[in-house]
Amino acid sequence: MTSEKIQRVGVIGAGIMGAGIAEVCARAHVDVLVFEQTRELAAAGRARILRSLDRGVSSGKITEREREQAAWRLRFTSDLGDFADRQLVVEAVLEDEKVKSAIFAELDQVVTDPNAVLASNTSSIPIMKLGIATKAPERVIGMHFFNPVPVLPLVELVTTLKTSAAVSERAEQFASEVLGKQVVRSADRSGFVVNALLVPYLLSAIRMVESGFATKDDVDRAMVLGCNHPMGPLALTDLVGLDTVKSIADSMYEEFKEPLYSAPPLLLRMVEAGLVGKKSGAGFYEYG
Ligand code: CAA
Ligand code: NAD
Repeated sequence: MTSEKIQRVGVIGAGIMGAGIAEVCARAHVDVLVFEQTRELAAAGRARILRSLDRGVSSGKITEREREQAAWRLRFTSDLGDFADRQLVVEAVLEDEKVKSAIFAELDQVVTDPNAVLASNTSSIPIMKLGIATKAPERVIGMHFFNPVPVLPLVELVTTLKTSAAVSERAEQFASEVLGKQVVRSADRSGFVVNALLVPYLLSAIRMVESGFATKDDVDRAMVLGCNHPMGPLALTDLVGLDTVKSIADSMYEEFKEPLYSAPPLLLRMVEAGLVGKKSGAGFYEYG
């Protein structure tokens, strides 16, 4: 069965990732409807996207006209009922299985196209857990983008035991041909490929600082200068969000019960204190 070309996308959440996903879709000439819980959050999400589009212009990646056209393709709503005509929906709300499952249950009722792709950008929650919240788990898939979305070229595609081949092909085609991303496939295991490797590294760096093995600056400088990483692990934890890193660690620990996935106390205390990284103005470092 051939499905229509995807021209109408829905994005749920306009935080770091939802805003980035909405931006790259709008830049790829697709009509984008973004859900946020309140008008205030929607306004903050739009402002986040406009700042990033401005950065795209100032760095010569897009023209002023492309920025304007992308901005025109973005609409916001606080009613999931408005997603009925979407051909692809990417869920990008906080890393919480209960919240995501409730959204998938509602999307299942609302989105009418039987070949629609209902994707989650979850970092670590097994996709089958979200699929079973719906009556049509064949439409559910993982499409895992990377932060910052306009810059990083990867999408991890995660099919479940129930995802249909048609939905998987449609999602891959959209990611590669429309968004110009490169796709790798992962089995439906918590953390998929990248976070199963990356998050134990971030947690090890936090344990190093916690135990006094080295200072945060030296840990970061060591990995930038010694391994040519674009940023050190503590700066990267700040970029991702400490709350998100903790939730990913919890989810992988629940799946594998391996000590290397357990969240260190320093991470727990910082999340409790609201020091969740760049998005909150402070984490391991401070942001102006
Ligand atoms: N739109 C288009 N292009 C943009 C842009 C935007 N909004 N913002 C930046 N860019 C471009 C810049 O033009 C620049 O391009 P050139 O190299 O061609 O000039 C490039 O992106 C880098 O930007 P900057 O020079 O402004 O910034 P930087 O050199 O300090 O790099 C960074 C910033 C891209 C964040 C870099 O430090 C980096 O890649 N860090 C690692 C990020 C990473 O590992 N992300 C993965 C996190 S894990 C994850 O996402 C999964 C999960 O589930 C948690
Ligand atoms: P964020 O904290 O920037 O944004 C969270 C979003 O969730 C906001 O839009 C917020 O309004 C929404 N939200 C919070 N509570 C909600 C609720 N009860 N109901 C509906 N919406 C709610 O988070 P983020 O970094 O954008 O992460 C979003 C998703 O993307 C998570 O699943 C995360 O694991 C994943 N992810 C994050 C990164 C990263 O580097 N930050 C990378 C890849 C994937």
